[in-house]
Amino acid sequence: MAVVIKTPLEIEGMRVAGRLASEVLDYIAPHVRPGVSTDTLDRLCHAYMVEVQQSIPAPLNYAPPGYSPFPKSICTSVNHQVCHGIPGERVLRNGDIVNIDITVIKDGFHGDTSRMFLVGDCGIAAKRLCEITHRCMWEGIRKVRPGATLGDIGAAIQRLAESSGYSVVREFCGHGIGRRFHEEPQILHYGKPGTGLSLASGMIFTVEPMINAGRREIRELADGWTIVTKDHSLSAQWEHTVLVTDAGFEVLTLSVGSPAIPDPPDASFADLLATNVAAAPARVATPLAAAPVGLARQVGSTNPRRH
Ligand code: MF3
Ligand code: CO
Ligand code: CO
Repeated sequence: MAVVIKTPLEIEGMRVAGRLASEVLDYIAPHVRPGVSTDTLDRLCHAYMVEVQQSIPAPLNYAPPGYSPFPKSICTSVNHQVCHGIPGERVLRNGDIVNIDITVIKDGFHGDTSRMFLVGDCGIAAKRLCEITHRCMWEGIRKVRPGATLGDIGAAIQRLAESSGYSVVREFCGHGIGRRFHEEPQILHYGKPGTGLSLASGMIFTVEPMINAGRREIRELADGWTIVTKDHSLSAQWEHTVLVTDAGFEVLTLSVGSPAIPDPPDASFADLLATNVAAAPARVATPLAAAPVGLARQVGSTNPRRH
């Protein structure tokens, strides 16, 4: 199946789905604190999606070829877990890092986004990994424009990751997204500039690098889903759903709680971001309950970063 160029109506549907997915992360952020179980995070997100947003949690019972149905509504990947962690009885402890990956379906369209959360007080190595992985994602996104290639995106991500002493997971990648959860093309998070598919206005795909503090090799757990680093080193991931526009890109999974975008932008980048921010602010759904002031911090939400 070829790469789908979205129509203006489809793009409008994807904007709504993308914003809703990001708003689930805004909603859950204050609950991500020492003592909470990943099952509780799943239950809260499920209720928010179904009852407040009237959206469908795409992971629940998702069963791509060769996989058993995913049993929960979100993915929670803790510490050396790379992706697809299944929420369960595990309780988050001070110093853990956790990726929460949300995919909602609204009016038939998918919005897919994830963030890293620091649980309580984290060590400097964990913070640096989360922050640099966030920058890796944005390095990839800022390459997106008509005529750029998939290799440009992958190379930008790989360059920052490896120059920081980290490795890029090869077995999982970003993906086209729309009426289906996973569409063509595959978005590799490594590669060579100027190679691969040329981007065209109207394409929508995710950029979701998985970056390991140690070696890049991974292993799948016996549950058939959870991916961990083979060497047990920490792993981080961030994800946005991105539309290719005539001007460059529009990030569809931004919301009021999205962490600040890293790096001093050049002039043309600043213009692009102005478009994104203008598209983002109004909430589609209202919160379930007033958010408590939490200990968990989204990386980048408070501290401007430099390197
Ligand atoms: N949200 C993941 C992605 O970014 C996919 C999760 S599949 C699931 O592509 F079944 F584990 F939810
Ligand atoms: Co994805
Ligand atoms: Co995802």
